[in-house]
Amino acid sequence: MKERYLLELDLRRVPSLAPDVVMCGSGIAALSAALVAAENASVMLVTKGQALESNTFYAQGGIAAALSEDDSPENHLQDTLNVGCGLCDEEAVRKLVTEGPDLVRQLIEWGTPFDRAEDDRLHLTLEGGHGQRRVAHANGDATGRAIEQSIAARVREHPNITFLENHFAIDLLHKDGVCYGLLALESKTARVLKIEAKATVLATGGLGQIYRETTNPDVTTGDGMAMAFRAGATVQDMEFVQFHPTTLYVAGARRFLISEAVRGEGAWLLNEKGERFMQRYDERAELASRDVVSRAIMLEMEATGSTNVYLSVAHLDAKMIRERFPNILEALKKYRLDLTKDRIPVRPACHYTMGGVRTDLHARTDVHRLLAAGEVTSCGVHGANRLASNSLLDGLVFGREAGKQALALAQEPQPTFPEKKVQPIRGKDEIPIDVDDVRASLKSLNNRAAGIVRDRETMANALRMLDFWQNYVYSEEFATTKGLELQNMLGCSQLVIRSALRREESRGAHQRRDFPETDDARWKQHLTYNRKEFE
Ligand code: FAD
Ligand code: SIN
Repeated sequence: MKERYLLELDLRRVPSLAPDVVMCGSGIAALSAALVAAENASVMLVTKGQALESNTFYAQGGIAAALSEDDSPENHLQDTLNVGCGLCDEEAVRKLVTEGPDLVRQLIEWGTPFDRAEDDRLHLTLEGGHGQRRVAHANGDATGRAIEQSIAARVREHPNITFLENHFAIDLLHKDGVCYGLLALESKTARVLKIEAKATVLATGGLGQIYRETTNPDVTTGDGMAMAFRAGATVQDMEFVQFHPTTLYVAGARRFLISEAVRGEGAWLLNEKGERFMQRYDERAELASRDVVSRAIMLEMEATGSTNVYLSVAHLDAKMIRERFPNILEALKKYRLDLTKDRIPVRPACHYTMGGVRTDLHARTDVHRLLAAGEVTSCGVHGANRLASNSLLDGLVFGREAGKQALALAQEPQPTFPEKKVQPIRGKDEIPIDVDDVRASLKSLNNRAAGIVRDRETMANALRMLDFWQNYVYSEEFATTKGLELQNMLGCSQLVIRSALRREESRGAHQRRDFPETDDARWKQHLTYNRKEFE
């Protein structure tokens, strides 16, 4: 793997800031971490877009936790382990499911308007892989927005927290396995800032944008994974990328998510001929786990020669559908589709990254003073396939943990980054690059080579293409967010495809045409990468 060119900087001339803790991101993980660390430390939140722009904001279905009397953390643990296909770390899952319920109750105290049933108890819905109803949701199908707004309101009024919007984290300040903060680019002015801190928390989310078909917003370009990898942190399980089975497939429309909760409330999947097909693939039918449903849809599309299948709720009570899914209903109306009556064209799209920066139970990476939480990590709770609605909970539980660790580090003396300059790693080129064009080609390549079903030949060819693109994209000095994102996307694509090529078996979200069986003897283990291996 190649090193990218990094700008040459005299750090003594760069404007600098020194909060106790710097956090990168503004989704559920960063906001949760910030509130805990700010109890006795100054916290700076750096985020590349507007404050609320994140995957968290778009979360629909809900947040899973054992909240009802007939449920238990133990049941939630078992469902999570089953869906994770042998690669979850049980201790991490136990932490998730036992600490989760109280944190959801705290969200309720903070004013998150979770929906209630007629008897005023929380209305819980069902999603694939869950043995019972345990997914709490807000404003019907706008859970993420409701949660994000209620935590962000507390963050904004906290005297110890400063929000730096429209600041893109370029790289971590690191030396000899220690992190000292980060460099950020103010998007509008292209001014670079040095932010030194006693603790740095990465909560930058996943890498969905490396795929052409994705539910993720534009900000989700794998920056945190690429930055951490460059700083010497270990990344893990990068081959496990989850495809959501049902995203809207209408020419010209964004790949808008149609929540799994729609199937939880009884929706059917129909093929081109109008037949239900899921029972032929799994006894849980439409509520099998996501990997199973996505694969079945692909097979059904191949068998019927179509580009999509359909989701239908025409057999369900229209009033219930209107109340439960008001946002999906509105979004579909724009394309003259009525969710209550019409068959909605859907197909799978990249949705979630199970792999990422390896962290322990305390959100620590293997770089000292660098913590990480949320989708950017591989913290052991999702294994080879994430259970639906477990990721908001992951952000809450491990975000809080990162906040606690940051708070402890913040009580130590302020370290100073020992380097006076950022030295370029290699000579820079000045070549005309159409960033959007390379980005579009990269996204198509990943869809083809690292999609739902993979094989050696396609992935090996893709790696050669990635190497070729890296040769010139990594030599360019970019002072724009788009260019820096492209470099990160290329780095992440390398990690995904290399890991997917290495894992010669099929497990969870990673399916190989040439190795269709699960092979516990050889592969029931995590795959890791550290840049030292490439030096
Ligand atoms: P995010 O919420 O993605 O936040 C990452 C933040 O980092 C963003 O603010 C981004 O701008 C910032 N950032 C990234 N790179 C940089 C950089 N270089 N510099 C500065 N800032 C940066 N999960 C569930 O549990 N339940 C659901 O119902 C659900 N529905 C979903 C629906 C959709 C459409 C999508 C896309 C995801 C859904 N998920 C759901 C998944 C879930 O939303 C995410 O996994 C979770 O919100 C991730 O939270 P996070 O805090 O780790 O990252
Ligand atoms: C959905 O609403 O289907 C998304 C849930 C998730 O990603 O966990």
